[in-house]
Amino acid sequence: MHDEGLMQPVNIFTQMPSCAPSAPGLETTGFEISADDVAEAMAWPGIVGLGEMMNFPGVTNGDPQMLAEMAATARAGKTIGGHYASPDLGPAFHAYAAGGPADDHEGTREVDAVMRVRQGMRAMLRLGSAWYDVETQITAITELGLDSRNFILCTDDCHSGTLINDGHMNRVLRHAISCGCDPMVALQMATINTATHFGLERELGSIAPGRRADVIFTSDLTTLPINRVMARGKTVALNGKVLTDCPHVAWPEAARRTVRIGADKIATEFMVAAPDGVDAVVVRVIGVIENQAPTKALEATLPVRDGYVIAQGNNCHVSLVERHRARGSVSNAFVSGFGYEGNMAIASTVAHDSHHMIVVGTCHENMALAANRLAEVGGGVTVWNDGVEQALVELPIAGLMSDAPAITVAAKADQIVQAMADCGCTLNNAYMQHSLLALVVIPELRISDLGLVDVTRFEITPVLKGV
Ligand SMILES: [Fe+2]
Repeated sequence: MHDEGLMQPVNIFTQMPSCAPSAPGLETTGFEISADDVAEAMAWPGIVGLGEMMNFPGVTNGDPQMLAEMAATARAGKTIGGHYASPDLGPAFHAYAAGGPADDHEGTREVDAVMRVRQGMRAMLRLGSAWYDVETQITAITELGLDSRNFILCTDDCHSGTLINDGHMNRVLRHAISCGCDPMVALQMATINTATHFGLERELGSIAPGRRADVIFTSDLTTLPINRVMARGKTVALNGKVLTDCPHVAWPEAARRTVRIGADKIATEFMVAAPDGVDAVVVRVIGVIENQAPTKALEATLPVRDGYVIAQGNNCHVSLVERHRARGSVSNAFVSGFGYEGNMAIASTVAHDSHHMIVVGTCHENMALAANRLAEVGGGVTVWNDGVEQALVELPIAGLMSDAPAITVAAKADQIVQAMADCGCTLNNAYMQHSLLALVVIPELRISDLGLVDVTRFEITPVLKGV
């Protein structure tokens, strides 16, 4: 994907991933990234730094591998990207900043933005498909008057529908302006500030002699319609039409057929067994929060039927199916907040960051059907109701990406969103929330192939309370 990015008519730079696994000991990945891998990648063209140092306890505690990865990046003169997803802004955060990460995009509150720039980091303010972290933090500039040059706008996760229907960075800019940010300041936060942060300001980020002629032309500085896009001195898009080729690589077979779950799954594999002789149990529940990446660690009392715990009310079953090494293991827990009803299930092989398979459902039979369907098509997203598939997005490249045109993928993704709503889902951008249920570096509660993970303590925790 990095190679393909370098072939495009616009600038696509890459940060070398730092954390696979994101939290060692709490999940099993298909592949592990070492400090040597990071050092090698720093010499590649188009690599601008280290991506998302998510193992923030590792940095704070001086983990040798994390320190070696950051040292390799620093030696190459490149930028160490941060990811500090804890509300603790005390000594643990100071130690993290001292370790080397130079930016952070996980802030959700005004104080998070203030403390990041106070520690010498750049605060990246994020508007993803489901993360609305600009409005709550931009007041650090618009009301507290902090120097905007230390702030950067970013998207983080955006699904294809958002990109096609609402835009990418232009969407973030429009939003920042609508939150009261001066349009020129918002533009700086998406151009020159970013270029400076990644050491590219002598080539990019401003319209000035000696810089690449990468320019957008807009007729209105508030609504930001993009009338013309110029890249490397050539007009590449005009009035919504792309005028140039976007080359692609031929994907090797090894990048396809990556969903390995062993034998077909059956309903009982998705069930949580209860202790003998009880008719109700107290369970831990992953509580999804609208428009935010963190979850809440909740509890619920659920009934037991035929020895298994049954999700009720606003609670659903959530399962993680190991899919890289064909172990076929399934870990099971509970999640609330989606609002699903009836006999449904949704499965996805986009499951940050280890990208196993996450299945959420109200019905174990439908959960098994959805999981087996993704194994059959090589990955993607599928929604099932009453034994019938409602929508499917195939993501044949590693179970994560599509090589079909974005507009085609976005149309199918819209069908997923509709199918989720038809199953009772009321959550804004529920698919994004679904795909982050296994991200064991964002508090408070997540699921991995090893079980339920308490991300406030970085340890595996039982699903059943007091067992
Ligand atoms: Fe992150």
